[in-house]
Amino acid sequence: MEALIYQKGLRNKTAARHFYNYLNFLDPAGVSFRAINYGFDDGKMIPLNPQEQAHCFRLALYNHLVVASGVDLKGKRVLETAVGRGAGASYIARHFRPKSIHGIDISERSIEFDRDYYHISGLTFSAGDAEGIGFAPNSFDAVLDVESFHYYPHPERAIAEAYRALDKEGYYLVADMVPAGQIKGFMEGLKAPGFRLAKDPEDITENVVRSLQNEADQKEVAINNQVPLLLRPLFQVFAGQPGTFFYNELQAKRLCYLNVVLQK
Ligand SMILES: C[S@@+](CC[C@H](N)C(=O)[O-])C[C@H]1O[C@@H](n2cnc3c(N)ncnc32)[C@H](O)[C@@H]1O
Repeated sequence: MEALIYQKGLRNKTAARHFYNYLNFLDPAGVSFRAINYGFDDGKMIPLNPQEQAHCFRLALYNHLVVASGVDLKGKRVLETAVGRGAGASYIARHFRPKSIHGIDISERSIEFDRDYYHISGLTFSAGDAEGIGFAPNSFDAVLDVESFHYYPHPERAIAEAYRALDKEGYYLVADMVPAGQIKGFMEGLKAPGFRLAKDPEDITENVVRSLQNEADQKEVAINNQVPLLLRPLFQVFAGQPGTFFYNELQAKRLCYLNVVLQK
């Protein structure tokens, strides 16, 4: 059942929009469900402000994506597609000092949250679809997309849009889970509009599984405190709790978590 949801059911924009709008209803202050990606643990600490500590592993995934890419975001114009509740974008704004970072998301409630919650110079948000972002060509030096590709019904449109919005030699940084048997097609799809690989894709599955283990107790408390009883099993699956579908697939490496860095 979960496998079917992953393969087919997630790629529905209306369902994604409602699910993430509902998350804002469940956790209006963004206490538990703010950084809504899986985490990264390589045993190293990253620089964090006190308000970022609760999400240390999830922010470490953003940190690693940027640091390992070798791309210097300082003074750059950055777009994050599927920015969610802004934890990653705000982390990048604080720690990597881009000139600007704009986040878009299909969930308008998440964007309302982001606009209310973050007051950081250069960090802005708008509701929008990654498959049709609508920015003028050559508007950005880097586009980031974290853990959202598996929601797009037409990922090729999101890739083409990122390519169009990027300036010459701009970077596209993508992190997501891909079924092991589909990696070749995923990589070909990413390169299709004319991107070249800036470095070999990095498989961070083991680091992600370790962070899911580390965060399991914290997530259990959050789910029990903030999610209605009947929905808790579903949230446990999405949260990657040990013993549930995504965790098992990642642990068995049937699902691989990849970091990919492309250049226009
Ligand atoms: C797992 S969350 C990741 C959010 C954020 N990147 C993070 O790591 O915290 C997936 C996000 O994708 C967004 N999303 C799904 N389909 C989208 C689309 N077509 N365009 C823009 N955002 C989309 C959802 O609303 C949700 O915020």
